[in-house]
Order: sequence, then structure tokens, then C-alpha cells
Amino acid sequence: MDAPSAKKTPAAPPESGDSSDIAGIVNVLIEVANNTRQNAYAPYSGYRVGAALLTSQGNVYGGCNVENASYGISLCAERAAVAKAVSEGERDFEAIVVVTDDGGTPCGACRQFLREFGEDIIVILADKRGRYRITTVGELLPEAFVLNSK
Ligand code: THU
Repeated sequence: MDAPSAKKTPAAPPESGDSSDIAGIVNVLIEVANNTRQNAYAPYSGYRVGAALLTSQGNVYGGCNVENASYGISLCAERAAVAKAVSEGERDFEAIVVVTDDGGTPCGACRQFLREFGEDIIVILADKRGRYRITTVGELLPEAFVLNSK
């Protein structure tokens, strides 16, 4: 039996519902991202980021930023969430919520990292007051790099 855990939170899949269902899913994702954000390890920047990634199987993976004294190897919240999902065998993503104080947008590296799994992934950018806007990976990263080596 699946025990509830912070890394994997069941959520209803979005495809069958009306707009109030979607608002409910967004609220669940914001709550998970906010909870995960509390674990952010950001002693250098003080900028705390939480993410919640919804998969097509209806699971939600949280992620937070994890900084390092060697600044450049710090891990962003979005990539932490994606790594958790992929590590659990999931690669089909519906949406990601990112919560920061100011509703900031994902960095370029995270846009490219998300783009690996699809340009139609919905990206919801929320601030600490719960205000949010909705975009997509494709909108955030037009003309992404794709590897055409063969
Ligand atoms: N950060 C993220 O977690 N996601 C982003 O998309 C942008 C930046 C983190 C990295 C670092 O810990 C802090 O925010 C300040 O750059």
C-alpha cells in the first residue's frame, strides 16, 4: 500500500474536469509547492523557491532549491522536482507550479530542463500571496535547443 509522503502526493488528473476542478488542482499544487518551499536550503541568496510537478499519473512531486557554498552547483527547485519524478519512473508531465516571494519566472536552465519533457507543460508562477499566472514551457522558451545529432 502506498503510504502518504512528501515526495509524492496524489492529485486528481486534470483532463476530465471543469474550470472549478482546475482551480482546485492549482490550489493543491500551490499548497504542495508552498510546503516544499519551507524546506528550501537558501542560506546564500535568501531566495526560497518551491515547486510542485503534476504528472499524467496524477502524482505530485515537490522540489525546493538547494544551495551550496560553491554557488554554481546550487540546485533549482524545478530541477529538484523533475529529478524526483524521473527517479520514480515518471516522465509525462502536465503542469508545474513554482512559488517564490515575488512570483519570479524560472531560470533559463530550468526552462531547458523542463523542455526536455515537453513544450506543452503548463507552468504556473505563484507569489507568496497566492497570486499566480499561467503560461507554458513553450511560451517561456521559444526556439529551445533540441539535439539533432543523428
Ligand atoms: N532558483 C530556483 O530554484 N529556480 C529558478 O528557476 C531560479 C532560481 C533558485 C536558485 C538559487 O538557490 C536562488 O533561487 C537564487 O538564484
